[in-house]
Amino acid sequence: MARKPLVRYNSAMIVENEKQLTDAVLAVMQRTPDPRLREIMVSLVKHLHGFVREVKLTEEEFREATAILNEIGQMASDSHNEMVLMAGSLGVSSLVCLLNNGDNGQTETSQNLLGPFWRMNSPRLENGASILRSPTPGAPLFIRGHIRDKAGKPIAGAVVDVWQASAEGLYENQDPSQEDMNLRGQFATTAEGDFWLRSIRPAGYPIPTDGVVGRLLTAQGRHPFRPAHVHVLAFKQGYKTLISQVYADDDDTLETDAQFGVTRALVGRFQRHDEPHPDDPDIERPWYSLDYTFTMEPGEAKLPRPPIK
Ligand SMILES: [Fe+2]
Repeated sequence: MARKPLVRYNSAMIVENEKQLTDAVLAVMQRTPDPRLREIMVSLVKHLHGFVREVKLTEEEFREATAILNEIGQMASDSHNEMVLMAGSLGVSSLVCLLNNGDNGQTETSQNLLGPFWRMNSPRLENGASILRSPTPGAPLFIRGHIRDKAGKPIAGAVVDVWQASAEGLYENQDPSQEDMNLRGQFATTAEGDFWLRSIRPAGYPIPTDGVVGRLLTAQGRHPFRPAHVHVLAFKQGYKTLISQVYADDDDTLETDAQFGVTRALVGRFQRHDEPHPDDPDIERPWYSLDYTFTMEPGEAKLPRPPIK
């Protein structure tokens, strides 16, 4: 009595030809008990098999592909994640971000990629303070940010983490000449939802090119640079944690970001000033100002896992 379904099950696994192979694999995927895992695995097999058919993947290419995936895994360390670099270089990280924010991709969003350089517990500072903790060359930059909800209402008491690279394009943890936690700080928004600080203009920087991603970029004639940007993470109960980057509008690589992170909404005006600073004529010229409004969306206030230990 019990033998019949068993025989049917086994016979489906005997491959008749390449077309029936896909059906057989899909039938197995369809039996996944968890509905979400089932949905993902069925779709993954459809697309993977479709991809192999479309490009007529050769045996040699398949062996090379598995070696590449192994190499990506082997490159992982506490301070390096080649998989995330690859996801960014293929636009997948940005796609996931855009599909999961801004009303599931229907509207503009301030959300962006976290990147590999966020650290927890950066110094808590008063509004107006400088995030320089050691002498750091670069043009002065005055940042004024506004945190709003989707209706444009100010969000008071949000904790805003700001971090950025130096004028040489290096984060403090990559650069022994910078003090620990240099160019990092946390600010609280005022009753009007504002925060402001002093810094220096960051420079763009190349993503690591000593691995698989570097070889891909070279093979495609792509440069490895990301345009200059300032990272922001805003946290407040009742809102989805805002993970954002604001990109310099005058950067040469704004339109060719190696990680496809620049969205129209996140291009900020880094305004150049050649006149003396109104509050302090001794401030080096030119100086820059950045005024930017971030929108927090409803959701869960949850901190990401810091990429740096
Ligand atoms: Fe960055």
